[in-house]
Amino acid sequence: MFLYNKPYVVNPNAEATSLEAKRAEPDDGLDVPSPERYYSREFMEREWRALWPRVWLLAGVTADIPEEGDYTVFDIGPESVLVVRQKDGSIRAFYNVCPHRGNKVALNEFGSVDRFTCAFHGWRFCTDGKVDRITDEESFHPSLLRNRPHLSEVRCDHVGGLIFVNMDGQAPPLRDWIGLPKGYIENYEIDKMHVVRHVRTEWHGNWKVGVDAFYETYHLPHIHPQTQGVMEDYSQYDLYPNGFSRMIVPICTKSHRIADQDTVTPDLQYMMQEAGMNPAEYRGNAKDVRATVQAAKRARARRLGLSHYEKLTDGQLTDSWATGLFPNVQIGMHPEGAFIMRFLPHPTDPERFFYDNLTMYRYVDDPDYFVPGWMGLPKGTDVTGATRPPVEQYGIHQRADLGPVLNQDVELVAAVQRGSRSRGFRGPLWSAQESRVRHFHRELDRLLGSKP
Ligand code: FES
Ligand SMILES: [Fe+2]
Repeated sequence: MFLYNKPYVVNPNAEATSLEAKRAEPDDGLDVPSPERYYSREFMEREWRALWPRVWLLAGVTADIPEEGDYTVFDIGPESVLVVRQKDGSIRAFYNVCPHRGNKVALNEFGSVDRFTCAFHGWRFCTDGKVDRITDEESFHPSLLRNRPHLSEVRCDHVGGLIFVNMDGQAPPLRDWIGLPKGYIENYEIDKMHVVRHVRTEWHGNWKVGVDAFYETYHLPHIHPQTQGVMEDYSQYDLYPNGFSRMIVPICTKSHRIADQDTVTPDLQYMMQEAGMNPAEYRGNAKDVRATVQAAKRARARRLGLSHYEKLTDGQLTDSWATGLFPNVQIGMHPEGAFIMRFLPHPTDPERFFYDNLTMYRYVDDPDYFVPGWMGLPKGTDVTGATRPPVEQYGIHQRADLGPVLNQDVELVAAVQRGSRSRGFRGPLWSAQESRVRHFHRELDRLLGSKP
């Protein structure tokens, strides 16, 4: 059962100190916000003033810039930020704007350089942002160059393989901002994974309609009924400080809504096979598949010396810990890989956003170790990490094939966006299964200095 005052818990026996334990719920109230937040330009402008510049934003992953001079560019709204690996191994970020006339210094999203050269007039910058050469410097009046025009630095820090930037000088340090307990992200060792697929699509919807849609599993039986055979749709929802949250989605189990809880279906057999088991030898009940898969994965990890499994609970070996990094990121975390989704606002239209997906995989060279089916990687994808795939970009009028589940979400989001403008809609009514959505909006309102 999932009661509004007694939410579902995945593992009632989890120790209080375990990251799996259900957290005490904060009082997020029962406000019903005005739907204006999903379409109004004024609300969007407030976000550009008081949200995006003030929060730590996921700018990339360390796996993409392993060597000195490797860089990645993170664009958000009117801003473009250049994130560069330094000589000493540290990572620094700069506005991707030339101090001469404002051209972009790096035109590609990824690359590796000794120096950045601005394409407009050839000014050159070192990887630490210092201006290295000003073309025909003697033609400038010296007073204009008295303060050397270096690239402007942006605050940058990284944790567990994830790189964040912050445009605000006043924000607390990254580690104080991340509301998750220490080790929560690090235990998955995302720094040892590689991007094996990167897809960016443009959707009809406000970025928050996107976040909302991925922050609960309440809609699974209705929009994605095909998941019911392998996934519970009651999730454990936990709310952390600063708008952070997670849901634990039990996998390798049938939804409680399915009448037959005993028969081992081909879908469950597939999951056993993925864990290196031979499903033909399994004599148990469907209810025990999850625990059996956990044990098989644990044993396989020990055989292969995958020490990060030791830091994870049994539940983490099968379940998705879908973790919300306020404001615009959710990461589906698994021992084999991570599915990062970034909801990037459109620079001018509050009714559009970019859904940016990085599929990350930790390559293990063993015949009994498989790329999980949930990654939905196209045939022939290089999973070894030897090549960084280019970003597959799809505009608003192009239909990207994101797989059946995400394709369903694309249509859903467009319909909900439209509905948010209806005179007949008075604002979202959130249940306890949507506590993460409420928690997210509450933090947003706190930052914007408004009541919902
Ligand atoms: S704008 Fe970069 S060199 Fe002129
Ligand atoms: Fe969905």
